[in-house]
Amino acid sequence: MMIELKNVTKEFKVGTHDKITALKNVNIHIKKGEVVLLKGPSGSGKSTILSLIAALNKPTSGEVIVDGKRVSKMADNFTSLFRREHIGFIFQKFNLIPTLSAKENVIVPLIPSNPDQEKLNNRLRELFGQFSIKSKMNVIVKNLSGGEQQRVAIARALINNPRIIIADEPTANLDEKLSLEFIKIMRNLKNSNSSIVIASHDPLFFNLDFIDRQIDIHNGAII
Ligand SMILES: Nc1ncnc2c1ncn2[C@@H]1O[C@H](COP(=O)(O)OP(=O)(O)O)[C@@H](O)[C@H]1O
Ligand SMILES: [Mg+2]
Repeated sequence: MMIELKNVTKEFKVGTHDKITALKNVNIHIKKGEVVLLKGPSGSGKSTILSLIAALNKPTSGEVIVDGKRVSKMADNFTSLFRREHIGFIFQKFNLIPTLSAKENVIVPLIPSNPDQEKLNNRLRELFGQFSIKSKMNVIVKNLSGGEQQRVAIARALINNPRIIIADEPTANLDEKLSLEFIKIMRNLKNSNSSIVIASHDPLFFNLDFIDRQIDIHNGAII
């Protein structure tokens, strides 16, 4: 298994007395290379599940095991390295740095690891070629079109060849054309052997051929 949530409960403290139970006794198992859609209405717990997989958060009880590592017990000073080595994030807003070039944005996640320059340049050419934005490498991101920015954001998520790709409401800010473009890119990624977890309530994702499984979540529980 690439991702395992075992009997996971997550509570958030609200003020001094109250708490919200965002997830209750959730069990999820995702295999290597599997593409899973987490679906459910707003507030059902999708983003909380993604944050637990990415070790951005710890469960209140239960275990989260990712690629054999017990991330629910991982010391906080190891989690950023864990993310860098395992997780490619695709955000709802692209979260690009508008004043940097496309290439600079893509290599941002690698800066702490001081990568080999030749390997890095090969990987950059490969990714920018794959997404047909090779000629845009040195363009400042704020001057790129929405579709180009989207592809830069996806390239940034993939720069490390992550074993796990996480996308949180990836089409929420996209028009239909760009949403379909995104889906096409995800379909092509299926062959990369990465596990892909997409959290979305966008009907465009329902019943797509390349999605192996849909997990319905409601009020913090899987149905
Ligand atoms: N940091 C937080 N503090 C308090 N409540 C939170 C926090 N994060 C999420 N929640 C609550 O947990 C529930 C699940 O949220 P979330 O996982 O973001 O749902 P979804 O992504 O499906 O919209 C919601 O009720 C939300 O308000
Ligand atoms: Mg969410």
